[in-house]
Amino acid sequence: MPAPNQAALDFLLTRRSRPAKTLAAPGPDRTALEPILTAGLRVPDHGKLEPWRLMVLEGAALARLAQLAADLGEASGKPPEQTAKGVSQFSESPLCVAVVAVPRPTDKVPAWEQELSAGCVCLSLVNAALAAGWGACWLTGWPAYDAAFLTGLGLGPGERIAGFVHIGTETVAPPERPRPDLSATVAWVSE
Ligand SMILES: Cc1cc2nc3c(=O)[nH]c(=O)nc-3n(C[C@H](O)[C@H](O)[C@H](O)COP(=O)(O)O)c2cc1C
Repeated sequence: MPAPNQAALDFLLTRRSRPAKTLAAPGPDRTALEPILTAGLRVPDHGKLEPWRLMVLEGAALARLAQLAADLGEASGKPPEQTAKGVSQFSESPLCVAVVAVPRPTDKVPAWEQELSAGCVCLSLVNAALAAGWGACWLTGWPAYDAAFLTGLGLGPGERIAGFVHIGTETVAPPERPRPDLSATVAWVSE
């Protein structure tokens, strides 16, 4: 029988994101963040293409992006509450890791699989931050799909946001949310 890593399994069985609005400063400094980033990039990657890159956003960069979201939201006539949601994602974040999906030109690995790997990076970053004792969550929101915002963030042609992973000091653990019912989600196929 296999020897389980019970602590890791228990973590995976109980892990849950911390809502962005419950994350407070300080976020992790560089020394604390590097093992989280290292774990975050330790993901399945078909063809070893590394079809992603990370941007660690903090301080004035977050304020600049919040202002950009405010300007773009107003300019495009978004409902104020929608604009505010895009702004607060950055103005209230202690630290944000933008996970950028970077499609590598190859006919060996479909773009879909490369994007799946970028998604894995987002979850791994959240889990590594939680395991390191921080609060963390994976967001997107309208800024992740706004061409002018993405240009302002420095994304190039073909690059997409897989997620904005916010990391900070946990202030409150959220109540558990309903989790999938295995019997409704899993099919046991033995023939
Ligand atoms: C691709 C993706 C994008 C998401 N974007 C948002 C978002 O913009 N706003 C939000 O409140 N939650 C968003 N979520 C959900 C959060 O990550 C949320 O915290 C999560 O569903 C809670 O899950 P957990 O407790 O199982 O980690 C997103 C999730 C994924 C996978």
